[in-house]
Amino acid sequence: MKKIIVLTSGGDAPGMNAAIRAVVRTGHYYGLKVYGCQFGFQGLVDQTIFPMEPNSVANMIQNGGTILKTARCLSFLQKETRDACRAFLKKEEIDGIVVIGGNGSFKGASLLTAEGGPATIGIPGTIDNDIHGTEYTIGFDTARNTALQAIDKIRDTASSHNHNFLVEVMGRSSGFLALDVGIAGGAEFILTPEFPVSHEVLASKITTPRRHKLSSIIVIAEADKSGRSFDIAKQLAVITGLQYRVCILGHTQRGGSPTAMDRKMASEMGYLAVRGLLEGQSHQMTAFNQGRLELVRIPDPDLGPRILNQKDLIELNDILCT
Ligand code: F6P
Repeated sequence: MKKIIVLTSGGDAPGMNAAIRAVVRTGHYYGLKVYGCQFGFQGLVDQTIFPMEPNSVANMIQNGGTILKTARCLSFLQKETRDACRAFLKKEEIDGIVVIGGNGSFKGASLLTAEGGPATIGIPGTIDNDIHGTEYTIGFDTARNTALQAIDKIRDTASSHNHNFLVEVMGRSSGFLALDVGIAGGAEFILTPEFPVSHEVLASKITTPRRHKLSSIIVIAEADKSGRSFDIAKQLAVITGLQYRVCILGHTQRGGSPTAMDRKMASEMGYLAVRGLLEGQSHQMTAFNQGRLELVRIPDPDLGPRILNQKDLIELNDILCT
């Protein structure tokens, strides 16, 4: 192992910069040449890699986003594109790649390795926390704190005006973010893609006689349609006669300075990824399970995103918000 590349791919997540920093500095510490590549796999397609020295990652651990830029590179799913990338990597004598990203990015990494490319190690980075094989993905903690701060602010207005609010958080396939901020924010109901309820059931839950609240907040995961809360608000108004104001938190949740937890997790995962490559590992992902970091096999892309199975926590929230 002499030359490695680090790249960020898919949606950005706070803490990606801390992971890049850890990969670059650990690599140099162990005598590796470390290269960066911009816009995820697109940088490989464009054959633009550049050396990264330890000082190139100075003063950025506190910043959200990714200094390497990122993209969802659909052309990388085509074999001819990957063949061309593999030839390029061979010519440049690249021995290993660290891919920081989510499910789509790991699919690309898996294919590259399976077809004879360099060794790959993934670092899970997505605010959705929806990757199989790890209980934690970088960016999740920052996103949930960002959403929580917003909910606290909305509650001030909700309570001052006796208003009802639908607050929509991210989470295309999974409700991890909605669940955590719903419980922590004292939401009156949490709606996730895994546990959908009809408008009628939702209406009956929020108008049940147990609830004599003058204002309320329902947290909704955006699922497959960002902005779906507007439709839900309309339906609730028809069924209950209650007006729901809508607040879509959207991409505010992906930005911002990473929390201590995300910076530390990213730093440890970056270090572990490089150690893994040096020890001859490939097709592995850094993972956090039962309180410790480990390397596990990159999840089978056919599994799709990890989804929430904690219905008991949704029920717990039902009890706590009465
Ligand atoms: O990064 C994950 C995610 O934030 C999902 O929760 C969300 O559905 C999606 O990305 C939005 O991505 P885009 O930036 O493509 O709109």
